[in-house]
Amino acid sequence: MITTRAPGKLYIAGEYAVVEPGHPAVLMAVDRFLTVELTEAEGRGMVHSSRYGRGPLTWVREGESIVVDHSPFDYVTAAIAIMDKLRAERGLAPRYFDLRISSELDDPSGLKFGLGSSGAVTVASIDALNRFHGLELSTWQRFQLALLATISVSPKASGGDLAASTYGGWICYTAPDRSALLALLEGGSLAEVLDAPEWGICRIAPLGEPAGITMLVGWTGTPASTERLVDRVSRPEAEVSAQYARFLEDSREAVEELVAAWGTDPSAVLAVLRRCRRLLQGLGALRGSTIETAQLGALCDLAEAAGAAGKPSGAGGGDCGIVALPDAADAQEILSRWREVGILPLDLHVNPSETEGAPA
Ligand code: MEV
Repeated sequence: MITTRAPGKLYIAGEYAVVEPGHPAVLMAVDRFLTVELTEAEGRGMVHSSRYGRGPLTWVREGESIVVDHSPFDYVTAAIAIMDKLRAERGLAPRYFDLRISSELDDPSGLKFGLGSSGAVTVASIDALNRFHGLELSTWQRFQLALLATISVSPKASGGDLAASTYGGWICYTAPDRSALLALLEGGSLAEVLDAPEWGICRIAPLGEPAGITMLVGWTGTPASTERLVDRVSRPEAEVSAQYARFLEDSREAVEELVAAWGTDPSAVLAVLRRCRRLLQGLGALRGSTIETAQLGALCDLAEAAGAAGKPSGAGGGDCGIVALPDAADAQEILSRWREVGILPLDLHVNPSETEGAPA
């Protein structure tokens, strides 16, 4: 049996802007994991996971395709398909296998915390198949394949979660142009796609520990599934796109300042994170969607009142908020106020980087 695991992630700054190629974000990998166990099988493969409520999913090869027995063409089947393409390209014999997926990223009672389980399951599955087929892929190649699998399901996903889950630690991430990669994927071999110059703007830089601050994480509830886009239709397109361009530039500037201050200047880190909160508020107003819900707003306000900085983490609309707390400040005070307003503190820490060598 082959066992792999991948950590979940949290965004620290730069969310939304990071979906635009070349715009940076900062993320942390967390010390909660999703685990994949792979065993060889005969004649067909299965995927066992608590997510497949109707029992295991069964897959077979038909020609060059992977065919699943019931609907969701999800991240696991995308990972199986891309790794099977690579296996075939390398001239290795097709073999069947079963995957068993278990996760600490969601609560056993069914609460989903938004810690990046789709990214983690993709990364852990790619890693398991890399070992099963003896492909000897580098960390960077495993990230690339996880991104290619992911964008075949969600073309707009930035891949920041995959970078955090693959590399671990604190990272600064910049996405490549995924639509260019998808176009390449349609025509060329995977070997060509993995070596293509289109990856050139993709950056994954380790940041090390932030100086003088502790990160607190609070879960504020399940995000609403539908976004309201009221404002978007009622504003002139040119005004929206000018403001969006401004948001992208402001976000880039903030993340660059954050990275520069990261290991040296806690008060600059706090100031930038407070600014990032306001940038996300502005983006929410521009799009007519609630990124900072009332609960996330309470989390941020309590942080700012205590001399810390708070902001939504990731897409917002619920899920987690993060608070950067100066080392001298009192975490207990904030945590007890959270409990009073129904915010669930999550005991999460950074999962240190386990990878060899420097990322790309
Ligand atoms: C969601 O976790 C973060 C976003 O930036 C989307 C993405 O990066 O794919 C909003």
